[in-house]
Amino acid sequence: MIRFLDVSHRYGPEEDFVLRHFTEELKDGEFVVMTGPSGVGKTTLIRLLLRELMPTEGQIMVNREDITQMAAAEIPYYRRRIGVIFQDFRLIQERSVYDNLAVTQYVTGRGARHTEERIMHVLSFLGIDRLHKRLPRELSGGEQQKVCLARALMNDPEILLADEPTGNLDPGSSRDLIHLLELIHRQGKTVLMATHDIGLLQEEGLTLRQIKLREHGTSVVSRTEGGEHAW
Ligand SMILES: Nc1ncnc2c1ncn2[C@@H]1O[C@H](COP(=O)(O)OP(=O)(O)OP(=O)(O)O)[C@@H](O)[C@H]1O
Ligand SMILES: [Mg+2]
Repeated sequence: MIRFLDVSHRYGPEEDFVLRHFTEELKDGEFVVMTGPSGVGKTTLIRLLLRELMPTEGQIMVNREDITQMAAAEIPYYRRRIGVIFQDFRLIQERSVYDNLAVTQYVTGRGARHTEERIMHVLSFLGIDRLHKRLPRELSGGEQQKVCLARALMNDPEILLADEPTGNLDPGSSRDLIHLLELIHRQGKTVLMATHDIGLLQEEGLTLRQIKLREHGTSVVSRTEGGEHAW
């Protein structure tokens, strides 16, 4: 479970608060979308959850542990439990798809054989195993985002965070990606996606809980209106 408890954040003592007394809970295995106007704090929330930022006030519980109290030495281990994808992909341009995934295993001390099996398993799961020798520039945007998703899944995270993952994709690739996120959710992972693309979710018939961020961190919870229920 992820729980934000009375979280307030500002980037500096002279800055305005981005989030103010934000309280919200995500249950294990839930797929939640986060929406709201540009600058409202969606990326900030994702960075808080990754412990890239410390909130100015409040607690952030992940499975009963307050991550704001976590020792610095624990943070790399904590981050391995969380997969994350971004709008701008962030692949290593001069390395193959295979190598982009292999780097996630260097620090885990697992052997080459495990790494190879895991890479091919994750690529097959996402239907892109044929791309393993390509460089990022030899891929379409949609393919690059699938590689990012593969990279995020390499350490079998409990939680998947997606910050506007369809922001740079055409409608077809966006639909593909959303359905992969839905598949990952159905495998039991907790998924939190920031998006401006609620229309796409509705067109695809996904009914998801929606956290609508408003200025100063207040939030409204509703559901995207889709056809069939997706959980
Ligand atoms: N490193 C930073 N230092 C100071 N202010 C920042 C920093 N990062 C973000 N902000 C400010 O915090 C506010 C929230 O930014 P954030 O990136 O979380 O918004 P967002 O909801 O993700 O927007 P978008 O939909 O455009 O991605 C904005 O006013 C932004 O200018
Ligand atoms: Mg953002």
